[in-house]
Amino acid sequence: MNQTSVSLISVNDWVSQILGEAKHKSPAAQASAYAPSNIALSKYWGKRELSFNLPITGSLSISLAEHGTKTGLSVIDAPMHQVILNGKEVSANQSFSIKVSQWLDRVLPNVLKLRVDTHNTVPTAAGLASSASGFAALTLATNSLMGWQLPERQLSALARLGSGSASRSLWHGFVKWQAGEQANGSDSVAFPLEHQWPELRIGLLTVSSQKKAVSSREGMARTITTSALYNQWPQQAESDLATIETAIIAGDFETMAKTAEHNAMSMHATMAGAWPPLVYWQPDSLTQMQKVWQLREQGLPLYLTMDAGPNLKLLFEAKHQSDVEAAFPEVQVITPFG
Ligand code: PMV
Repeated sequence: MNQTSVSLISVNDWVSQILGEAKHKSPAAQASAYAPSNIALSKYWGKRELSFNLPITGSLSISLAEHGTKTGLSVIDAPMHQVILNGKEVSANQSFSIKVSQWLDRVLPNVLKLRVDTHNTVPTAAGLASSASGFAALTLATNSLMGWQLPERQLSALARLGSGSASRSLWHGFVKWQAGEQANGSDSVAFPLEHQWPELRIGLLTVSSQKKAVSSREGMARTITTSALYNQWPQQAESDLATIETAIIAGDFETMAKTAEHNAMSMHATMAGAWPPLVYWQPDSLTQMQKVWQLREQGLPLYLTMDAGPNLKLLFEAKHQSDVEAAFPEVQVITPFG
């Protein structure tokens, strides 16, 4: 697996190809869009190609309903894009502004500059990654502003250029991102699963809402290049994805949630085996994990998953919500199919 392999086509050429004439359409004065945040049940951890953000394996997520990002766009007469996050202007040299501007410059004609007004509807204290919903909302809003009317799979690929997990945030419910094989990523796109699970609940347990010291991008690269434990990951990730998808279709909560927890713990094990070691957990993360395991031993069907950060996401069904809330008074419960 060579994660630095160079594609035969540059990202900019590929974007020009898929947008074609649409790239030069006249924009509307303004547009806006909403996209939900998502949590992977079977994780994306590792890129096979860096510039297109192409994953080594597929992944499968659940979207977080009203927890996400709303982005408004308007055309401005200025030399640079202007980026506003939760009501405050972000200076042009900050990484958030740089990433948003780079994405816009890839897909828009050079002279067109936008004001990007982005609001996360996730309470800031929830410590949820907002890059997935942020780039998905930006993609949907740009599609609307520019009148591109692109097919969903192309929108998913464009969102992926901003952040891998954004490819999955264009829809509500369960979403699968297939790894794909093409060098330009045209088949590395996500699509929604038809199956709904109204009783499914996600509990957010916030340990810290601080920005993480090591980004997912850097964490993946370090894990792949230095962790011998990564070798087993692609095979497990593909097998977990298949198990979780089958369990979702069968409505088998135990298998789905158990596999999701095992998948998350295994991903974190690959990171711990990196050098320097990569541990996103904090002491309180472990305290909360042990509490989940104790409750499970006592008979509560409660499972957890974690991304590249210290916060826990609990998986349970509606009939156990009051037990979960009693055990974790600070939990924020999300109804993904609400
Ligand atoms: O999309 P990124 O670059 O923020 O990476 C996401 C990585 C994980 O959250 C750990 C896993 C996932 O599939 O969302």
